[in-house]
Order: sequence, then C-alpha cells, then structure tokens
Amino acid sequence: MTAADIDLRSDTVTRPTAAMRAAIAAAEVGDDVFGDDPTVRRLEETVAELLGTEAALFVPSGTMANQLALRALVQPGDQVLIGKDAHVWRFECGALAALSGGQTHALPGDGRFTAADVRAAFAPDGVYGSPTRVVAVENTHNFAGGVIWDRAALAEVVAVTHELGMTAHLDGARLWNAAVATGASERELAAGFDTVSVCLSKGLGAPVGSLVAANRATIARCHRFRKMYGGGMRQAGLLAAAGLHALDHHRARLVEDHANARYLAEACAGMPGVTIDLASVQTNIVMLDLDQPAADVVARAKARGLKTSAIARTRLRLVTHLDVDRAACTRAVELLAVALAR
Ligand SMILES: Cc1ncc(COP(=O)(O)O)c(C=O)c1O
Repeated sequence: MTAADIDLRSDTVTRPTAAMRAAIAAAEVGDDVFGDDPTVRRLEETVAELLGTEAALFVPSGTMANQLALRALVQPGDQVLIGKDAHVWRFECGALAALSGGQTHALPGDGRFTAADVRAAFAPDGVYGSPTRVVAVENTHNFAGGVIWDRAALAEVVAVTHELGMTAHLDGARLWNAAVATGASERELAAGFDTVSVCLSKGLGAPVGSLVAANRATIARCHRFRKMYGGGMRQAGLLAAAGLHALDHHRARLVEDHANARYLAEACAGMPGVTIDLASVQTNIVMLDLDQPAADVVARAKARGLKTSAIARTRLRLVTHLDVDRAACTRAVELLAVALAR
C-alpha cells in the first residue's frame, strides 16, 4: 500500500500508531509459555474483566481463539448449530471439522437466527443422529455486513441453548463494534455464553492478537490446545502491550468508523448500478450489490489507488477503520464512482 492508497478491504489493514509502537517498545516481557509474561497476564485479566468471565487466554488470531473454544466444547461427531456464512464455519479452512470433528448445521436467517430456529434444529441423542451440542453466534456478523444481534433475541438463543443442554460460543471478533453501536457493554453482550472470542487486530488496530474467554476450567483446556496447535508464544508481551493500548485508546473511537461507513453507504446508494440495504449498515461494514462483476470494479478501483474486496460475484465490501478518515472516505466515493463506470 502506498501512502496515497485508500484501503477499505478490511479493518485488519491498520498500521500501529506511533503511540502504540511506544507502548510495544516499553512493554515488560517474559517467556509466556512458562507463564512469565506480566503484560500478557495483564491483558488476559483486563479482557476477562471486560467480558465478565473468570479467565481469558491470549492467542495469535481470531481463528485460533474460535477453534480453541470449539475444541473445548465439541466432541467428534457433534453437531454445531451455526448462522449463515459464519466465520467459524466458512472461513477457517474447515478447522471445526478437521480439528474438533464437529459438523455444522446452518440455521435460517442472514447469519442471525432465533431461539425457535435452535429449538427446531435440535436433535435429541439417538442411535443414528449426530447430537446437537453447541450453538455458535457471531456478533457483529461479518458476512451479513457487520450487523448486530438484537439483545432480546440473543438472550433467548442463549437461554434455549442451555435449556436444551447445549453450550454457546460467541465469535466476538467485532464485539467492540457491537458494544459501541448499541451502548451495551461487552460484558452485557457476552452474558451467558460459555466461550467468547474477541480480536484486537480488527477495528482496534493492534497488529496481532485475539483472546478466548471462559471459565477457568475451559480456559485450562484451551491453554493445552493452544500449545498443541502451535500457538504458545514466548515474549508475547510486546503484542499484548499493543492490545492493551488498543483497548484503552481505540475502542470509543469506533463510532467514527461507524459514521464513516454510513457516510460511504449513503453516498454509494445513489450511484447507478449499485444496491445497498442501508438498514444493514449498522457498524463499520458496507456491502454493495452491483449490476456487474465485483472483481472488475475492484481492479479498476485499485488502479486508481482504492482497495476494496469482491466477496461474491457481484458483491463488493467496504470496511472502515482507524487508518481512513472522513477525507479518505470522500475521496473513496469519487474513486468508486469512476471505477463503477465501465
Ligand atoms: C467474525 C470473524 N471471526 C473470526 C475471524 C478470524 O480472525 P483472524 O483473521 O485473526 O484469524 C474474522 C476475520 O476476519 C472474522 O471476521
């Protein structure tokens, strides 16, 4: 990316700020595989406190956080009830099947589903069936366009999950966005889940890092699986310091990303050949449905210095983040208008 490029492919493309780099440089570290890194400990305690869980574990990626949690909850052959296009199902290289032996059952809806959907899909243990054991929720939901779960619907899903004897996992890679957009705390949004994953390297702007949070016994299991999967890190306090800085300084500002996404959506909604469901623009993601191949538009925009993603044949995704301000969004709208004109 040149300095002139505007990159709206993802909220993962941010570069650490000077202040974050200073926090990294100043971090106190130790060998975290031996449990010696005080900065990692501080990050884990901070996130457990934020999410209202007994414990949390620092891991390299959101994928690892999700898959450690699911490995702790799923037995080979179990069914995992999941929303449409859930990241843990479609975008983690089949890890749920490969590493936990879980098989997925997709529920109706746009990625969000209801307690009635969970009840309808639940199959009691029997001689032939694969037992439904886990329900996985994604909030915000990436491929549905960063949409937020309704809190009452979420509470009902969690309640029915437990009533039926199952456990619930929350992929909260962008839970920070949901919290800022709704005014509910992360702890409120995570309430009742057996395992929760959160990412520091998406909207929050840290270079690396995610956490899985749960009760102490589950985190002890995740800790063992983390080492098994090659995720034990040594002087990881350098990365944890970036995460702590991100939590302190970059959470509240997510409102700016949300306002910029709305600005982009409203500007693009009027463009010929573009359809946008404005009601689905709830956080920092905008989905544009086009009357032409999205890959062609991506290529034309890129040639002019605007990076976007084609996430389906005629669907383009724009994601706002720490490194794009309002002026960059205004320029992006101009570049996109040119790129859309064949
Ligand atoms: C909802 C969601 N969960 C999990 C992940 C995985 O995170 P990572 O890329 O750090 O493995 C992503 C990545 O974009 C995501 O959008």
